[in-house]
Amino acid sequence: MPATYVIAGGSRGIGLELVRLLEPVAGRIDVWSRNPDDLRVGGPIRHVPCDFSDAAAALPELPEVIHGAVYCPGTITLRSFRSLQPADFRQDLEINLLGAVRFLQACQPRLKGHDDGPASVILFSTVAVGQGMPMHASVSSAKGAIEGLTRALAAEWAPHVRVNAIAPALTDTPLAARLLSSPEKRDAMAARYPLKRIGTPLDVAALARFLLSAESGWITGQVLGVDGGMSALRT
Ligand SMILES: NC(=O)c1ccc[n+]([C@@H]2O[C@H](COP(=O)([O-])OP(=O)(O)OC[C@H]3O[C@@H](n4cnc5c(N)ncnc54)[C@H](OP(=O)(O)O)[C@@H]3O)[C@@H](O)[C@H]2O)c1
Repeated sequence: MPATYVIAGGSRGIGLELVRLLEPVAGRIDVWSRNPDDLRVGGPIRHVPCDFSDAAAALPELPEVIHGAVYCPGTITLRSFRSLQPADFRQDLEINLLGAVRFLQACQPRLKGHDDGPASVILFSTVAVGQGMPMHASVSSAKGAIEGLTRALAAEWAPHVRVNAIAPALTDTPLAARLLSSPEKRDAMAARYPLKRIGTPLDVAALARFLLSAESGWITGQVLGVDGGMSALRT
């Protein structure tokens, strides 16, 4: 039986690329976001309007059975600690952490194994949690919480559900557009990486597809970097 996926934030960037990879093999893919953006609805794909920044709003209906759940919404708030207000930290926590918490609490009763393996959940961190980077205090705090949540839930939900996080470095998506707005900025960013380029949505979505598949069936509680070598290498 083809699998059912719910991808929060699958209308752009990494999430959209993942939807494209899953489309040929999925039975159903529900994509939650505020707007459909570049999503092509039809076949297994449906768009479900949802805004995680409204904590009081009820979440949409979920499919009865979910084999894979992915939470993509996130932020890149790059400001000095001095200029950050408590409200900025709250906003980053709301989208990155508390949205994921509400999403997973809704999904939990419906997560079911598939292909003789456990269900799979994927969250998103950032390379800037494992490596201290200036201007990242707010977003790194929120994504650090995601890494803790990943390990705690992986323990609590084993053996029926696997939970992993992906920690990308700079990836060419709408979220990163401001950092990549000229050829000079792109070249300067690419030069920072041992592999001398920035990431593509496919670089990251390919790992997400693997983590949703039975081929990754013995991997849980991990935070996996997709970062051109940035987190591990000094070249
Ligand atoms: N791109 C990078 O360089 C990079 C680096 C490190 C980590 N990451 C992490 O990787 C993940 C995916 O990033 P991305 O670059 O693909 O992001 P993106 O291009 O901004 O796409 C985000 C997706 O989430 C949805 N979304 C955003 N806010 C939402 C909200 N309040 N309610 C519901 N849906 C919302 C967006 O659709 P709508 O706006 O229509 O709602 C869109 O589908 C994020 O968690 C990000 O923090 C990215």
